[in-house]
Amino acid sequence: MKHIDLQIQTDQPVSRIAPEIFGHISEHLGTCMYGGIYVGEDSSIPNTDGVRNDVIEAFRQIRMPVMRWPGGCFADDYHWCDGIGPKEQRRKRVSRYWGHTTETNAFGTHEFFSLCEKIGCEPYLAGNLGSGTVQELSDWIEYLTFEGDSDLSELRRKNGREQPWHLKYLGIGNENWGCGGNMRPEYYADEYRRYQSFCENYGENKLYKIACGANGDDYAWTETMMANVKSSMMHGLSVHYYTVPSGIWEKKGDALRFTDAEYYATVSRALYMDTLLKRHIAIMDQYDPAGEIGLVVDEWGNWYDPAEGENPHFLRQQSTMRDAMTAAINLNLFARYSKRISMANLAQAVNVLQALLLTEGAALIKTPTYHVFDLFKGHQGGMLVPTVCTELTAGSETKVPMLSHAASVKDGVLTFTAANCSLEDAAELTVSADGFTVHTAEACVLYSDSCRVHNSFDTPETVTVHPLDVTADGNTIRLTLPPCAVVSVTVS
Ligand code: AHR
Repeated sequence: MKHIDLQIQTDQPVSRIAPEIFGHISEHLGTCMYGGIYVGEDSSIPNTDGVRNDVIEAFRQIRMPVMRWPGGCFADDYHWCDGIGPKEQRRKRVSRYWGHTTETNAFGTHEFFSLCEKIGCEPYLAGNLGSGTVQELSDWIEYLTFEGDSDLSELRRKNGREQPWHLKYLGIGNENWGCGGNMRPEYYADEYRRYQSFCENYGENKLYKIACGANGDDYAWTETMMANVKSSMMHGLSVHYYTVPSGIWEKKGDALRFTDAEYYATVSRALYMDTLLKRHIAIMDQYDPAGEIGLVVDEWGNWYDPAEGENPHFLRQQSTMRDAMTAAINLNLFARYSKRISMANLAQAVNVLQALLLTEGAALIKTPTYHVFDLFKGHQGGMLVPTVCTELTAGSETKVPMLSHAASVKDGVLTFTAANCSLEDAAELTVSADGFTVHTAEACVLYSDSCRVHNSFDTPETVTVHPLDVTADGNTIRLTLPPCAVVSVTVS
């Protein structure tokens, strides 16, 4: 057992934590959309307009704030006109990036916007810059958001949607340094400027335009974009970073079979996000000291080798307590950098990479990562307040800080989240909430007796949330966090 003193400076609010920091991406990849989210109206799996009811309910429970769609790499090969109108007439295409499967386009624009309405989340469209045209993107926005009289708004009405939709978040290209066209940043910056010029705000609809950002530590990309694109043209600039346990893409590591040393290496690589955020933000601060352009971490998560027997193009993987730990670490970091981060999207929502949910036919399980988002939802829209704690490390070969933490205040409620990264030691926490009158404190914890434990279709509740004992005395809160555990404490 290690003792940790933690001070929460509730009287020194820093910045609002955008709810969108707890966002997601769902791509036409493997069984994320087809089978995972969308099963079609005729399916025997309970659904509403073809969308699985269990998925809608699970997403609503965590208050999913935003969903990015249709990709990923798929976005720069997607032509929205293929996915509107009568389903039997929709164009079949090859899924170029994800295993040359047939894309039926049964799930398209109307289905996506209706999905977001069901979840109660903001839609975030990833527009096609790589293989599309300026006209195509411009037309999509008119089709979606124009209330007046035009052929495109008439077509939308004919296809069943009278009123325009509200569309805030618009990405213009995805990973254009790679699958989105293998562009140089200078070239992309010019293309971005051109594309965004034709993305119109119709009526009350105001677009928040997001440019493709760096691949991990490609700081030159961020620098080029910031130097060449003004905040009036670019409201957000993205960055993508995946945690690969080995650090080697060709042999990433297994989702379920890993040693303690690999656990600590994964935690350490997840913590690299801290360095990335710091350095990208420093560049943004230099060009945009007023903080007008948001950093959008619109793909993040753990990426393992495909399991035996799985289609390697489908990127399906299991999720253990290790994934819960890195999810908590990342979410705490995003909250701590919320002054600049306007959104973050875990890859991906269902059946792909560090998924929230896994499905098999009619069955559905919630992964440990899902429960982390449930535990962290109290931070959505809260004011970040500083947390300072005793610095202890965990691990032997690779050392990592023992505790990851963040706190926020919203409507008089203090939410404090922490992850004990140690596999060996419990963390006995003494938390002082400076400037806060504590009446009640409640804690919920996600833990299991091993970091390798996961939920399966036979044992779906192996890793789940439990209440945790917590005592409050004056403005001091005490609790003991088991090894490899994530906690959320709500104080009012
Ligand atoms: O999330 C899977 C893929 O990872 C996305 O399609 C792409 O943007 C990234 O490389």
